[in-house]
Amino acid sequence: MALPKDFLWGGAVAAHQLEGGYDLDGRGLSVSDVMTGGSNGVPRVITDGVVPGKYYPNHKGIDFYHTYRDDIALFAEMGFKCFRTSISWSRIFPEGDETEPNEAGLKFYDDMFDCMLEHGIQPVITLSHFEMPYGLCKKYGGWANRELIDLFVRYARVCFERYHTKVKYWMTFNEIGNQFNISNPIFGWTNSGVVFTEFDDPEKMMYQCAHYEFVASAKAVVEGHKIDPDLMIGCMIASGPTYPRECKPADVLMADDSMHHIFFFGDVQCRGIYPNYAVKMFERKGWDLDITDDDLVALKAGTCDYIGFSYYMSSVVDSSVEVDISKSTSANDPHNVPNPYLGATDWGWTIDPVGLRIMLKRFDERYNGMPQFIVENGIGMYEELDENNTVEDDTRISYLGSHIRELKKAVEEDGVNLIGYTPWGCIDVVSFTTGEYAKRYGFIYVDIKDGGEGSGKRFKKKSFEWYKNVIATNGEEV
Ligand code: BG6
Repeated sequence: MALPKDFLWGGAVAAHQLEGGYDLDGRGLSVSDVMTGGSNGVPRVITDGVVPGKYYPNHKGIDFYHTYRDDIALFAEMGFKCFRTSISWSRIFPEGDETEPNEAGLKFYDDMFDCMLEHGIQPVITLSHFEMPYGLCKKYGGWANRELIDLFVRYARVCFERYHTKVKYWMTFNEIGNQFNISNPIFGWTNSGVVFTEFDDPEKMMYQCAHYEFVASAKAVVEGHKIDPDLMIGCMIASGPTYPRECKPADVLMADDSMHHIFFFGDVQCRGIYPNYAVKMFERKGWDLDITDDDLVALKAGTCDYIGFSYYMSSVVDSSVEVDISKSTSANDPHNVPNPYLGATDWGWTIDPVGLRIMLKRFDERYNGMPQFIVENGIGMYEELDENNTVEDDTRISYLGSHIRELKKAVEEDGVNLIGYTPWGCIDVVSFTTGEYAKRYGFIYVDIKDGGEGSGKRFKKKSFEWYKNVIATNGEEV
């Protein structure tokens, strides 16, 4: 058998994309509550507070706040060993800077985690999955402000103290490196509560915010281990290999450098140091970033316990091409070109299962066999219920199956220390990049359409039974 017996099969979501109940039980507004719904190719807009008459899909999500017991029962039916979700920071600290947490918010997650545990499902929890209290943006300017470090660590400490007997696996910041994509403001907004393009040097501001997040994450790791040394606290990095368009050295070098968009975040969080290429870049740019000696000590002390990462696609660079990405909602490299050997989803995300194995190998080799956890992978599709009240999602089965086959090779043939796999959006949720309901990832169909209309009822897709069997056979039958 390729995979260990205790392999963590499950699924992943994030609080802001499914909970709804955005103003219930004392919850404060979060950054995701002021992002309007967009669509395929039409970006979401960040508004100044909640503007009456505008449409904010995250306010409703799929109403998981009220339905989680039934939904978790469905996950249990599929045999989930774990379920990855996040804590909505503004349920716990509504404005972000209170000295005492909101008990109703804490109680909500107590109940939800108990429900998972009753079903034999381990919670896997992200502390900040594209969410922070909106008050921290308004009052402090988001992660551009050093004061957020202490406020985040206080929040993390409260969560570790309260839930450490229920939750072993944690991640600090979701896809911390996403904010590299400065051309689409939602990435900086959701990672850092900052619109980078409003600053004279957006790139410098991105690195400054990331630095404060690194220090906050490292300090949270130390605090977590003080509370319970058995906690596994990981980073979470959006990943995917970049290939050279051709074997000419200029393309190969560019592809190599492009991987810094991913490895920079892993290098600081897994090794606890700023890598040489980053130090040199800061010097070259003449940046006087606020990085203190104490910060460097903190980074070294709080390296993470495992690498959590998402994998959706690979990319290609061509050194002879340079396109304007200022209007792009997803591209973050002006040298990106399509891969002529691979297909793509309806949203233009390249489908490359082998890229997952390559990523697993690279992390393994770079970070000395550190445990890895694939905490997101999946395919967004347009889907409708058929006359049998199901969706014949063979494309999803084929997508996930091909990725699982590659991760098995990485474990069996390459010796990668992989602890789990949680496909993204195991139940249909609101899309992050577009705010659509129409971009569906789930094994479970949720009857809500763009605009928020629908019964909210859940229906099993064909992939539900397929994934159930994958888990039951520990990945032997894919
Ligand atoms: C990751 C995020 O970037 O990709 C998720 O961590 C997100 O929050 C997922 O939903 C898929 O992206 P999208 O835009 O298709 O929902």
